[in-house]
Amino acid sequence: PEPGWSTRADVVVIGSGIAGLTAALRLREHVEKVLVVTKDVLAAGSTQWAQGGIAAALGEGDTPEQHEVDTLVAGAGACDLEAVRVLVGEGPEAVHELIALGTRFDVDATGLLSLTREGGHLRDRIAHAGGDATGAEIQRALIAAVEAATDIEVVQHALAVDLLLGPDRGVAGVTLHVMGEGERDGIGAVHCRAVVLASGGLGQVFSQTTNPAVSTGDGMALALRAGATLRDLEFVQFHPTVMYLGPDSRGQQPLISEAVRGEGAFLVDADGDRLMTGVHELGDLAPRDVVAKAITRRMHETGRPHMWLDARHLGADFWERRFPTILATARRHGVDPVTEPIPVAPACHYASGGVRTDLWGRTDVAGLYATGEVACSGVHGANRLASNSLLEGLVFSRRIATVLPAELRPWAEPAPDTRPVGLVDGSVRQELQEVMTERVGVLRSAAGLAEAAGVLDELAGTPAATVDLGAWETTNLLTIAAALTDAAALREETRGSHWREDHPDRDDARWAGHFDTRLDLRSA
Ligand code: SIN
Repeated sequence: PEPGWSTRADVVVIGSGIAGLTAALRLREHVEKVLVVTKDVLAAGSTQWAQGGIAAALGEGDTPEQHEVDTLVAGAGACDLEAVRVLVGEGPEAVHELIALGTRFDVDATGLLSLTREGGHLRDRIAHAGGDATGAEIQRALIAAVEAATDIEVVQHALAVDLLLGPDRGVAGVTLHVMGEGERDGIGAVHCRAVVLASGGLGQVFSQTTNPAVSTGDGMALALRAGATLRDLEFVQFHPTVMYLGPDSRGQQPLISEAVRGEGAFLVDADGDRLMTGVHELGDLAPRDVVAKAITRRMHETGRPHMWLDARHLGADFWERRFPTILATARRHGVDPVTEPIPVAPACHYASGGVRTDLWGRTDVAGLYATGEVACSGVHGANRLASNSLLEGLVFSRRIATVLPAELRPWAEPAPDTRPVGLVDGSVRQELQEVMTERVGVLRSAAGLAEAAGVLDELAGTPAATVDLGAWETTNLLTIAAALTDAAALREETRGSHWREDHPDRDDARWAGHFDTRLDLRSA
């Protein structure tokens, strides 16, 4: 559809979690006008929901080199070493900057940061806030800073639909679909000189996810349509301990942070036998993919839809002080973790892949940068290490703000976009999510992936009856689901969070590289 309104900004930041707001706050120091666009309200993204915390070598005796090793081990041979070095090396300073901005992390009796441990970390290095409300506290501090920065304009309830490209196929602007924001209602165009994509992940591709409703892969789909390269889409992380709410529960499900295991909780089956004994030397704190696989295996062996996390021994006082959010959520769903084990099962949690970037957040579309979960900077490889996600958004947004001002493109007239819109109807979303969960979820096989690809192809043939948010989101979900399924089919091995029933071993000789997705080159 033709834009009904237009405006201008030097830089448009799409997304308002830790990655987007950090980029906006830093860029405003160097460019005249920064516009932040967010699909819902500022706090609706995944950052708000982060529990465990943010990882960095902040503790006595810890070093970036040790954080590097743990990140590489979790990443199962698919990390980019240079990117990991940037992450762990700049991490401590970036966290201190977050503190200077006003984020109140938990401290011990002597005023030192209280650090905990999560799966795959050989050290206590996870800073947390409000016990288990780390993301909410970071989001609060960032929103306060953005609201105080009156030169940052914010447009809420606005879906970024597509990039407008100049004659050189670089960024010239972005089209937005604004839902009920005064005079800028409906489809409009923002002319700009750069776009920072910080729109988060794709959890809603699956039926059960820890991600909020807004995580529909919009940024990845937009980037793909604009000619950017997506990388490592098959590496979708399933969090092992998501509260099981019954067979009919769909959408966002309650996360039970890995930090609960970090503080001593353990997994058991229906007989009370511990699941992780003898599976991995780190037991219940093995990397996330190992734990998710152990739970899934036992679920299959026993025909049960979930296992249990036993944390009764932590006691009421500890639960209330350390995990108040999880305690209240579990109780709201009828389970008291102080007196009974929590039913848990793996659910989609994080996209380790995304829009391919260099070490400065640049994509291969001139003027388009990506940061946070939407990006694939190379730090996560085949399986993100716990609590490295907030850190990635923080570190790489700072980097983008360092290079982008000097790289600002001249204003360009958008070239006409002659592509067909091809929107699919919002009504196909549930079928899409179900086939993805069944066939492209924790456990994959060639036959299941082929079946999923067939169903997705069929769903693509259901044109949208109306042009609305549901249609845009479902189109994006379908685009990303298809690309993810293709990449998962190509990778005929098991590595990190990608588990192939028909290729159970990791095969470095054949599959150590990456799968890139581009519109003109589906996979290479
Ligand atoms: C958790 O608290 O278990 C989630 C942490 C993460 O995803 O990094």
